[in-house]
Amino acid sequence: MNKYIAQLNSLPTHKVIKAMRKYAETNKIPIINDEGLTMILLLVDLVKPKRFLEIGTAIGYCVVNLALFNSEIIIDTIEKNPALYQQALDYIEMANLSERINVYCADALDFDLNLLTDKYDIIFIDAAKAQYINYFELYKNKLVSNGIIITDNLLFHGLVVNINNIESKDLRHLTEKIKKFNQWLAKNKEFQTRFFAVGDGIAVSQKVIK
Ligand SMILES: C[S@@+](CC[C@H](N)C(=O)[O-])C[C@H]1O[C@@H](n2cnc3c(N)ncnc32)[C@H](O)[C@@H]1O
Repeated sequence: MNKYIAQLNSLPTHKVIKAMRKYAETNKIPIINDEGLTMILLLVDLVKPKRFLEIGTAIGYCVVNLALFNSEIIIDTIEKNPALYQQALDYIEMANLSERINVYCADALDFDLNLLTDKYDIIFIDAAKAQYINYFELYKNKLVSNGIIITDNLLFHGLVVNINNIESKDLRHLTEKIKKFNQWLAKNKEFQTRFFAVGDGIAVSQKVIK
């Protein structure tokens, strides 16, 4: 984030947050950046969600921030990697948030949705980028009628606007999938989506009420 703007915004500064940032940096675990997190905290402030669902926990950095920021919020989050799941549980316990953050160790695309709360006020999709359409289609029915779905990494480090310059075939293919998701979302008549060049590119989608 622009350093000047970053120091104007205040983010949770709990010691567990600091430890998580350090761990993520040392172990190269992708977590939401400050700009993206600031945007999600703003949306939490505006929507005042009782229930929040995250797809893709990693070590629990985003959800621990949210639960420290808003003392009412109840969060479910799904992580498929067992080692990251365990790490998230440990940090959540350290922050005394186990009663408000439930972590499921599962593939979100192969998960019994009946295990979850009926509906969520906010759903945050932040897992495998190539699967975004599938997560969106699967989880949209878990949203309250005036709820929002947030999706991250739509710019994919700026690569989506520079696909022709990508040398690696796999990386180009993944970037094309993200671009396809962005276009699919922009044209999706069921949701009104606004796109922001904030962090790594964030979309906020609201169900169109007929
Ligand atoms: C970018 S990280 C999540 C970061 C986290 N939201 C944060 O900001 O603190 C993406 C995570 O999604 C997980 N993931 C990928 N595909 C998944 C799937 N199908 N179901 C559940 N988790 C998945 C990965 O293992 C990885 O830990």
